[in-house]
Amino acid sequence: MKFRAIMGALCAAGLLCGVSAVQAAESIEVLHWWTSGGESKAVGVLKDDMTKEGYTWKDFAVAGGAGAAAMTALKTQVISGNAPSAAQIKGPLIQEWAAQGVLVPIDASAGDWKKNLPPEIDKIMHADGHYVAAPFSVHRVNWLYINKAALDKAGGKAPTTWPEFFALADKMKAAGIQPIAMGGQPWQDLTLWEDVVLSQGADFYKKALVDLDEKTLTSDKMLSVFDTVRKIQGYFDAGRTGRDWNLATAMVINGKAGMQFMGDWAKGEFANAGKKSGVDYVCAAVPGTEKAYTFNVDSFVFFQQKGQKSATPGQLALAKTIMSPGFQEQFSLYKGSIPVRLGVSMDKFDDCAKKSYADEQVAIKSGGYVPSLAHGMAQPDAAAGAISDVVTKFMNSQEDSKTAVAALAKAAKTK
Ligand code: BGC
Repeated sequence: MKFRAIMGALCAAGLLCGVSAVQAAESIEVLHWWTSGGESKAVGVLKDDMTKEGYTWKDFAVAGGAGAAAMTALKTQVISGNAPSAAQIKGPLIQEWAAQGVLVPIDASAGDWKKNLPPEIDKIMHADGHYVAAPFSVHRVNWLYINKAALDKAGGKAPTTWPEFFALADKMKAAGIQPIAMGGQPWQDLTLWEDVVLSQGADFYKKALVDLDEKTLTSDKMLSVFDTVRKIQGYFDAGRTGRDWNLATAMVINGKAGMQFMGDWAKGEFANAGKKSGVDYVCAAVPGTEKAYTFNVDSFVFFQQKGQKSATPGQLALAKTIMSPGFQEQFSLYKGSIPVRLGVSMDKFDDCAKKSYADEQVAIKSGGYVPSLAHGMAQPDAAAGAISDVVTKFMNSQEDSKTAVAALAKAAKTK
């Protein structure tokens, strides 16, 4: 690294400007929304690895869970001709950006990816037959995190059905514990709502949120989804408006609340606070979803840089590093996820991650492996946004379930 730095300095001074020195000086601007404690630690691994490889990391972090603010910032950058080297984009949005003709293929770094990725995820990384995105890890969304002391105080068993869940929440309430920590942004509403949709079965979830089947969307089961969400809301505290997800996680970490519905990036916060699964907290599948798995795979896409037709050396190195076994392991250990690359050892991971991995294998075989709508994996942006509006309106008003179901069917038609 020292050598590269010296070569870079010589080149900048107009001396000895060889190819490696030019590469060493490349600055990589990376747009992402990983700003919570656990998230920053995880992306810090990538920054360190790239710096060790001799590249300059230019961090473009835009705070805001699930990336709504980051996506707005990205559009502004691209429109003004200042696209970053790479940006955190996932799911069908990868193809939407590729269709704009602003991405560069990274096939040169992806020689061994096909045999090292689950086929359903490998497909998502492609556009027009080329790799255009590099995947980080697999997050499971359908988790319920429970403070262990609160659980012990209120009965000691993680709920596996909604009646058990409500019984536990009542006991927490009676013991003076705030049952649920909930944040206050649309994506958090949608995360909880899709959990409840999944509790009606993976087939129901697929028909409703992947196929957008009208009969399913307007069924009695869907009415009961909204009814259940309304009932869960009865256990929220009054201060959730505008609350970030990691602040809600902190309430469970500190024992200010008993439970949180959240994907396993929340586990990154527990780990960052020095908390241990099984000792300080318990992770359980959302009631009724034990056999199913809503997946959320983060990835980076690579933007065409000024004066370049194809990916730059820095972009190719970034893609390669993201999929390297060592990085995959350390990133997920901090992030709360599991490696997306097949064959990475799970030895260093905690019980929750091992459970995630085991449940993933079962769900893939049984047809219970489904893309998360709330995290941009199931639908193009427009339809996902319209459904999110319906759910958030319902959860922030006194609207009845029937009205919400009718609005849902209409929103699903958004193109
Ligand atoms: C991303 C995670 C991130 C979470 C909260 C999700 O959509 O996939 O990587 O930690 O949002 O910001």
